[in-house]
Amino acid sequence: MTGIAVLGSTNMDLVAYAERAPGRGETVTGREFRTVPGGKGANQAVAAARAGGEVTMIGAVGDDEYGVRLRSNLEHAGIDTDLLHTVEGPSGTAHIVVDDTGANSIVVVPGANGAVTALGPGEMAAIAGADLLLLQLELPLSAVIEGARVAHAQGVRTILTPSPVQPLPSELLDCVDLLIPNEHEAAELSGFTDPHASARYLLSQVPAVVITLGSKGCLYAARGGEPVVLPAPEVTAVDTTGAGDTFVGTLAVALGERRPVPRALAWASSAAALCVQRPGASTSMPYRTEIDAA
Ligand code: ATP
Ligand code: RIB
Repeated sequence: MTGIAVLGSTNMDLVAYAERAPGRGETVTGREFRTVPGGKGANQAVAAARAGGEVTMIGAVGDDEYGVRLRSNLEHAGIDTDLLHTVEGPSGTAHIVVDDTGANSIVVVPGANGAVTALGPGEMAAIAGADLLLLQLELPLSAVIEGARVAHAQGVRTILTPSPVQPLPSELLDCVDLLIPNEHEAAELSGFTDPHASARYLLSQVPAVVITLGSKGCLYAARGGEPVVLPAPEVTAVDTTGAGDTFVGTLAVALGERRPVPRALAWASSAAALCVQRPGASTSMPYRTEIDAA
């Protein structure tokens, strides 16, 4: 089994479903409200566990009711939560509006995630003992950089989702093996709106990149190789929240199992396409048998 350490956020998603998201100063009436366990780190952890990975979650939840539910959701998925600390104060929350096209707008309030500023010996050992490390940018950058450094020093393959997007210091990029931005993040990081141009630019900073393109699929590029473009399966999206995280978590398992890159990308795309057809983040992530069947 592929050992995957996730150093990342755990949020409770507070999701309103409405015909369209409100504009500035506007109020719209929603149709439905749900609380769903989410957070980019926890989502990637659940996706990887359901795809067949052996997953350890490193991060923090608050000492509130959400914290209890978030931890139990991860445990229910078979994820090791010994390094998911409970800290004083509220858990992270994400305030989400999903419109009738399935697209979302999100405000994330870090809460307990903001307390993860540095790693202890237990966290470092878990990262060093993993096959892959998954990172995103919903924890303080100091912890993300430390995690990446530990992984790099131990030869653990590191995948970074640069979201929410922000300028990335070279001390982080130097330790990243695979960068997976969506097309907006890629444009922000590279200054190029064309994904091929973005990928070329990003390859000057990391050895390999996958740019996810929503319903258009994804673009993979690695130094010294030809880019691979893979269209997404045609499906009707009801809620795209967590699609990117499903893609990353599933891809990590496939790469850990040493599947060839095009097949790993196809498997991850199938998983993400299943995810967008169901509501919620962690609730919509498919199991290995479903991905294989798709
Ligand atoms: P999110 O923030 O909504 O979780 P993201 O913006 O990080 O997602 P996207 O590029 O929108 O990432 O989507 C990630 C992957 O999910 C895509 O590469 C694709 O494989 C799949 N996907 C997303 N939307 C659709 C869709 N409408 N139909 C099929 N597959 C989709
Ligand atoms: O990537 C989706 C996630 O982003 C949501 O679950 C939400 O918690 C935000 O962090």
